[in-house]
Amino acid sequence: MTLDLQACQAPRHGGNLGYAQARFGTPLLRWQDLSTGISPWSYPVPEVPAEVWQRLPGDLAPLLNAAANYYGVAADKLLALPGSQYAIRRFAQGLPPGRVAIPNPGYRAHDQAWRAVGHQCYEYQTLVQLQALVSTGVVDHAVVINPNNPTTEAIDPNQLAGLHDQLSGYLLIDEAFVDYRRSLSATHLLKYCPRLFILRSLGKFFGLAGLRLGFLLGTGSPRQALEDKLDDWVINHPALWIGTRALKDCCWHTAQRARITAHAQQLEQQLNQVLGKGFEVCSAGLFTTLTGARKPLYQLYCYLARQGLFTRWCYETGDEELTGEPVNAAAETVPAWLRIGLPPDNGERLGQALVKLVAAQK
Ligand SMILES: Cc1ncc(COP(=O)(O)O)c(C=O)c1O
Repeated sequence: MTLDLQACQAPRHGGNLGYAQARFGTPLLRWQDLSTGISPWSYPVPEVPAEVWQRLPGDLAPLLNAAANYYGVAADKLLALPGSQYAIRRFAQGLPPGRVAIPNPGYRAHDQAWRAVGHQCYEYQTLVQLQALVSTGVVDHAVVINPNNPTTEAIDPNQLAGLHDQLSGYLLIDEAFVDYRRSLSATHLLKYCPRLFILRSLGKFFGLAGLRLGFLLGTGSPRQALEDKLDDWVINHPALWIGTRALKDCCWHTAQRARITAHAQQLEQQLNQVLGKGFEVCSAGLFTTLTGARKPLYQLYCYLARQGLFTRWCYETGDEELTGEPVNAAAETVPAWLRIGLPPDNGERLGQALVKLVAAQK
């Protein structure tokens, strides 16, 4: 089989099985996609009535009321969007060029969006670095991903309130992965923090990434600028109908939280037992991340892919690198991250692959 180099450029998002196939070939068993942080247990969508497909979406009020209840905010604090990505791409567009703190490693779309419209980005890795950028007035705005993807680092909302108060501009918190651990969410701070904005998604916890539904929480001019540019019917009717039901279903939320917590603990343990000596293993609920030196982590990523387990390989990018494979000795030891989503099969295939790995190393 010839390798399509174009297809082999490191994927921009998880879930690119076309890339996995082109790069690693056909696995013995079907691919198991562990490269996203999307729950493998999706909200069980009821049959969508024909009229929902036939008619244009109407009033958003039922969706906004359901979301207001779920997020614990007033409905007027919510702007419904076709995925939180929609806001990530556009939030900074309405602001005059400024200076913004952005997590690196972190979901790259934030950095790209701010840079694309002329803002100066200051990268931080830790809370201490972020606090220093804010308290010395180096930045006007800050973006926080809580918990962070891929590092899993989580910041207490009270500390975020303190950061908000020190910033002259906006604090944008991306809570795409927070639903399983509500105590981390900063939605209750919206009442007191006028320059705080929060992003929420129905893609991850609800396992409905294909629905394209998310929310920007907060009020003020960046939200208004986004709202003014929204097309009519930007939330399609099935998304409105399904999203309203998913957000209202408290019993399912409770069961899903318990399921994610139990499986996350199991995955973390499974990885720790075999790989805990070589790598740091840390869970963010919907995914567990291994942190370590780039070369052994890259080898692990390739090994798992050859077993048909596609994970998310994350490294500090250099334009010359197509796959993220370390290109020289210096690159072999720099830190990298391997993000592993929750397996849908109780970790059976992953367990078998890890047993084989241990046996091969003896
Ligand atoms: C941290 C983070 N935020 C936001 C998004 C976008 O999610 P969506 O547009 O599906 O709401 C992603 C997608 O992977 C993500 O990882």
